[in-house]
Amino acid sequence: MSPASPFPEDFLWGASTAAYQIEGAAKLGGREPSIWDTFASVPGNTRDGDTGEDACDHYHRWREDFGLAEDIGLRSYRMSVSWARLQPRGRGELNPEAVKFYREQLADLAARGIRPAVTLYHWDLPQVLEDEGGWPERETAFRFADFAARTAAALGDLVEDWIPVNEAWCSSFLGYYRGVHAPGRRDLTAAIRAAHHLNLAHGLSVAAIRQNAARARVGTAVIMTDVDPAGDHPGDRAAALLSDGEGNRMFLDPLFKGIYPEDVKWQLRHTGGFDAVADGDLEAIAAPLDFVGVNHYHHMRITADETDPLGTRALPPDGPVTGFGWEINPESLSKVLLRLRGEYTELPVYVTENGACFDDRVGEDGEIDDAERIDYLAGYLRAAGEAIEKGVDLRGYFVWSLLDNYEWAEGYSKRFGLVHVDYRTQKRTPKRSAGWYRGVIASGGEALYGD
Ligand code: FCB
Repeated sequence: MSPASPFPEDFLWGASTAAYQIEGAAKLGGREPSIWDTFASVPGNTRDGDTGEDACDHYHRWREDFGLAEDIGLRSYRMSVSWARLQPRGRGELNPEAVKFYREQLADLAARGIRPAVTLYHWDLPQVLEDEGGWPERETAFRFADFAARTAAALGDLVEDWIPVNEAWCSSFLGYYRGVHAPGRRDLTAAIRAAHHLNLAHGLSVAAIRQNAARARVGTAVIMTDVDPAGDHPGDRAAALLSDGEGNRMFLDPLFKGIYPEDVKWQLRHTGGFDAVADGDLEAIAAPLDFVGVNHYHHMRITADETDPLGTRALPPDGPVTGFGWEINPESLSKVLLRLRGEYTELPVYVTENGACFDDRVGEDGEIDDAERIDYLAGYLRAAGEAIEKGVDLRGYFVWSLLDNYEWAEGYSKRFGLVHVDYRTQKRTPKRSAGWYRGVIASGGEALYGD
């Protein structure tokens, strides 16, 4: 620890990416479509009809990208592997070309002294499995555990840190209820069933990974939103409770307490979605972990809204916002980290994603002066430091994202990277924030506290 910095010496300063958002090469190397290829190919589903077919062409340019990560001084890099590339038909032997592709990447990271963290499911379900019913079907959880076992066996000598599922809330509620993410369904019962099966997939894969990769440390990446009622009105308080239940407790309670929250079960009983929970599932879901990853982006003020089927609505933020219109409120990060420790677990924690998109402009000199991103990251990192001072065992922080990339339904319109990508030429240009982050890392966090 340096004098003014609360960050421990071995803190993992990192950055995150996800396969579908950067790889491109959607039809190469034996990969078959995932639900995102299908969803994005339907006009109207994504901004400007953008798909991840080419993305950042990381498939061919990963060495250059890892060079950029090394230049920044990243100690860790969180990436995801594509299920549709590794096991294109959703079952059976892994695709050797994909295994080779990921093994080369992991070996290269090791050679650069960058510790990998591997996410197994960052939203790219093989389309064949969606055709069989997708996450609302119990079988999908078992297919995932099989994929996890095989992938751990194939890559386990090169990876210690495993994250089975990224943000089960987004996959279930945005994908199966709100319909704004793949597979674009709008069915609350299906979403609750999907949430349970994603939780189960997580739990089953913990054992599968441990059995197949002796060195594995297994965690998770939950999205934690800081939720407040918009006002004192009992209706707002009830709406905020349900919103917190749907977004946070539906995922944290089973993982760390082995239960689903009673109030959420009661509020959503009319859907029949919780009938998907079978004997023994909750024990499997609560399998002991080695660490917890928190993805954090939002503070929300929730009001009651009868026109919404869940009866909840987030008010527009009244303070500063990012290019996504998401509220900038660093205190929320320390709040969710303290809540995790107080209510759920004292396991080591990593902020596995946090970051912001802004309307970055390439200057006449070719430079990208993203002062807003630097302010954002500095504020949230100081908030992370505060959480450490208050007793949170925070071991690392991963900026979302290393590169500008395919931001799901928003296509290429939202740039979150430390490195700018020109999607016409695939030219990479580190933004000013990349150099700034390098300085933060080199100073052990101390640079966050200068003037
Ligand atoms: C998170 C996702 C990540 C990225 C950021 C902005 O919810 O995990 O892939 O899209 O949001």
